[in-house]
Amino acid sequence: MSEPHEQVFFEVFEALPRQGPGSRECTARALALCRGLPARPAILDLGCGAGAQTLDLASLTDGTVDALDTHAPFIARLAREVAARGLQERVRPAVGDMARPPCVPHGLDLIWCEGAAYFLGIENALRTWRPWLRPGGFLAFTEVVWLRADPPGELRAFWTKEYPQITDAATHLATAARCGYQVAGHFTLPASAWWTDFYTPMEARVRELRLAHAADARATTALDAIQAEIDLHRRFGAWYSYEFFVLRAA
Ligand SMILES: C[S@@+](CC[C@H](N)C(=O)[O-])C[C@H]1O[C@@H](n2cnc3c(N)ncnc32)[C@H](O)[C@@H]1O
Repeated sequence: MSEPHEQVFFEVFEALPRQGPGSRECTARALALCRGLPARPAILDLGCGAGAQTLDLASLTDGTVDALDTHAPFIARLAREVAARGLQERVRPAVGDMARPPCVPHGLDLIWCEGAAYFLGIENALRTWRPWLRPGGFLAFTEVVWLRADPPGELRAFWTKEYPQITDAATHLATAARCGYQVAGHFTLPASAWWTDFYTPMEARVRELRLAHAADARATTALDAIQAEIDLHRRFGAWYSYEFFVLRAA
């Protein structure tokens, strides 16, 4: 049985178009950095959530996309969407762990991971996935990074508590080199990638659930915490963002 705060968390996230910052435009821009992909690339989308970027990858390529997430309701939602779009031949959603997939992949052209590599730790993820790529294959992932070295105390305190591993893009690029990758390119997600399909619908969902859970103090506390994170980004979004990293197996 899930903790009450976990239930509220999923009630919020399952209703959103995507489960992290991102956009079709950013996915397309990162994909364009994967120069020389075959006509039908074999793609593995890790921590796919409800699959916003999975479906974008399917429409932006003629390849196959295996999409993996541990949260079964996300995979069920993606599977319904795949069926509705008639994509079953090319897009295969599955419940599974991106550290230990049901069958160990090999010879992949492209591994994709928007906003989920941090669950494994970036260096661990890069080392785990490297053998799954063919020589010259690509890994594209997003990760939160500091944009400035002088974060206000309140912001630093938040990240120290929530994710002390937060660092800057240069540190990740050095890690990538150590783990056997070349850098094909990288870029910072624009503000719109945080708001349009993520924080704006999240705020609306939080408002909706406040009414539904008005008598439940623990649910209200959980919703307060989600709203606080949104407010923090509204005030301090100039200090941190997501970076899209596109790496090539050297
Ligand atoms: C921030 S969400 C990003 C989802 C999606 N890529 C997006 O950008 O909308 C992170 C996702 O990683 C999934 N996840 C966490 N740990 C995982 C693991 N070990 N294996 C597979 N998925 C995992 C979560 O269930 C969640 O859906």
